[in-house]
Amino acid sequence: MVSKATVEGIAIRTFKPADLKPVLELMNTCYRADGIQLRATAETFMAQARDAAEQPERHYQVAETDGQPVAFSDLMREAGTRLVSRVWIHPDWRSGDVGRLLVKRCLEQASSFDEQVLDIPVRPAQQYQAVLLEGMGFRHVRTWWVMRVDLTQDLPLAKIPLGFSFRTAVSGQDDEMLAALMNDVFSEHWGEGEHSLEQIRHDLALPWFDPRLLAFAETEGQTVGYVWSWVGLEQRASPGGACAHIGDLGVRAAYRRRGLGRALLMRALADLKARGMGAAELEVDGPNANAKHLYESVGFKEHVELRWYRKQFRSEAGAG
Ligand SMILES: CC(C)(COP(=O)(O)OP(=O)(O)OC[C@H]1O[C@@H](n2cnc3c(N)ncnc32)[C@H](O)[C@@H]1OP(=O)(O)O)[C@@H](O)C(=O)NCCC(=O)NCCS
Repeated sequence: MVSKATVEGIAIRTFKPADLKPVLELMNTCYRADGIQLRATAETFMAQARDAAEQPERHYQVAETDGQPVAFSDLMREAGTRLVSRVWIHPDWRSGDVGRLLVKRCLEQASSFDEQVLDIPVRPAQQYQAVLLEGMGFRHVRTWWVMRVDLTQDLPLAKIPLGFSFRTAVSGQDDEMLAALMNDVFSEHWGEGEHSLEQIRHDLALPWFDPRLLAFAETEGQTVGYVWSWVGLEQRASPGGACAHIGDLGVRAAYRRRGLGRALLMRALADLKARGMGAAELEVDGPNANAKHLYESVGFKEHVELRWYRKQFRSEAGAG
């Protein structure tokens, strides 16, 4: 194993389109080394791009030696709340300065936005990142769970509560309503920022967006809840046993505890099962006991922990 302890020969620079292939290889090398069951593709890369869609060079950083990317970071904005980065460091370069230089650059990038904190999620298999971040003044502030349900088993049924109806999204017609709904439903959710119409339009325009997997609950002409699932293009091509992702589930506060959340969730699971998906995953904030109860009651199990490490890079007064 090669180990570099000096900054000599390491360049941190902004991402350029030609980096895509080597960066995807780097990410997959990291996942394999860490035993993480994820696979980076051009598609997953783009899905995370969100507000970087317009200018990835502002958000993505590459650490390079001898013209070869050895580490990569992204930066996503949860507007009004926090910046979020994720970091991939090649297994041969984890003991040196590469990670520290890259995270330092993320902090510099983050400070060009109005938010005050930078958060980085760390999985248990990425203990080296926890050590790196703690050494740079980050602190573990929150734990989320990736939960997973086996869709090959029989799923409990849930009826749509009386007085409500469900419908799927109509391309090009729901974007403004969805932005308002999301911002209302998730206004209290930890770590969630304000969703802009541009971000939502970006997500709705992704090639693997499927309007039939975005379902709304309505009553008296008002949309009061939604569930939004994703099946990637690869999984769509060969669904056998693949894992789908439930990105959002939310019900407006005034309409909670009437069975809508459960009915929306069960509809999503039934849709995914009908498409041949073998499992579904979602992320839940650890202290969100209501949502966690709901997920456990339909068969979701804790799959992996995501620990959020945070650094405040600007004081409330805006100094620095
Ligand atoms: C989580 C959420 C979608 C649940 O929606 P809902 O319409 O209230 O859910 P339901 O009425 O179908 O309740 C389903 C189950 O959730 C659990 N639950 C929901 N709210 C609860 C509460 N306030 N206290 C205790 N349990 C609760 C219960 O297990 C309940 O089952 P039960 O009624 O049989 O006991 C809703 O609270 C919400 O939108 N929260 C904000 C957004 C959010 O956190 N989304 C989840 C992100 S991971």
